[in-house]
Amino acid sequence: MWILREIRQRGGVVGFHDFMELALYHSEHGYYASKKYPWGRDGDYLTAPTASGWYGATWAGFLTDLAARAGARCRLFDLAAGDGSFVASVLDGLGERAVDVLAGVTAVERSTALRARAGARLADAAVGVEITAIVEARSADPAVIHASELYDAMPVHRVEQTPEGLMELVVAVEAGGLEWRRRAADPELIRYFDEHGVQLADGQIAEVNPAAEQFHREMLEEAGEGIVLVLDYGYDAASLYNPRGRRHGSLVSYRRHRVGRDLLDSPGEQDLTAHVNWDDLRRAAADCLWEEIALMPLAEFLVRAGIGERVDEAGYGMEAELDADTVTARQEIKRLLDPEGMGSDLKVLIQGRGELGRIAKEILCEPL
Ligand SMILES: C[S@@+](CC[C@H](N)C(=O)[O-])C[C@H]1O[C@@H](n2cnc3c(N)ncnc32)[C@H](O)[C@@H]1O
Repeated sequence: MWILREIRQRGGVVGFHDFMELALYHSEHGYYASKKYPWGRDGDYLTAPTASGWYGATWAGFLTDLAARAGARCRLFDLAAGDGSFVASVLDGLGERAVDVLAGVTAVERSTALRARAGARLADAAVGVEITAIVEARSADPAVIHASELYDAMPVHRVEQTPEGLMELVVAVEAGGLEWRRRAADPELIRYFDEHGVQLADGQIAEVNPAAEQFHREMLEEAGEGIVLVLDYGYDAASLYNPRGRRHGSLVSYRRHRVGRDLLDSPGEQDLTAHVNWDDLRRAAADCLWEEIALMPLAEFLVRAGIGERVDEAGYGMEAELDADTVTARQEIKRLLDPEGMGSDLKVLIQGRGELGRIAKEILCEPL
């Protein structure tokens, strides 16, 4: 197996972080490098932008409102742009208004294969779309940054609290296969829990992504001001690391819409994902003097951002005739708003700085 070779080249043992990095992002065999289509109904999992075009259509209305109140066109940054689904559906929703609302779009995607897909998909966009591998959030126009399931796709360290102290769970090549081992945790990981005021219980397993805070800070610093909306699965540190809630951590695999716990199985063929610690992103924002505008469930965000109005405009509202199109549209909307699923499990963290932050607060935080 390719990954045995890679781990042997690194001495036969790697931290889980490096294993996850290889499994997801190896340039040839990694999950996101492969040519197959990882998400959507025929893939392994659904995200909000790939579950339904209504997510992007709602964003189109939100961006129109933002630009009108700001009296200026915005630049939309889509971090972890995947195959360009989100940007395509926003531009679709904006239609001819796109040139009045957006000064341009920057789609940031790490995977070369997905950047190529996004490029092909967005080649005829009505506004200039730049597709890049590296976040460059600097913009002369008000910046609106969107990141759907970026942070939960970043490699994490995996640790276990034991009577001997905090241990790191590592992956070793043994007898032609992969197995778990433990080694004393790096001081950086011990410091992480100290700084978040977290004490894990004996036997508790947890994940840590120290890169999230740094990534977020650099991105906010570079943007200077604007708004950022992070859509992801996450908790604050106290809940994420509560031994009663998640004694075995939040890391899971996804394959054909089934959740798995065998994280070492078939590297490169299944997705691996861990929940976000919202406090990492809050600390980054506080350092850069960005304000937290809200943290709300996806369903609430969509309602506040105007999904109801978009549905009425498209003729699928209460008065609509119950034909096949209306039923399909309503099913998709129900999936996004589902209080037993995506609508409440996915959260949107909204942070802002400057005039656009004030406007976003006005739009998204007024009493319902
Ligand atoms: C779970 S998918 C989400 C895709 C899309 N945002 C959506 O919601 O449908 C995660 C994506 O993040 C990308 N990614 C991970 N780390 C990244 C980084 N540092 N910069 C840009 N993209 C990244 C992966 O290549 C992958 O396409």
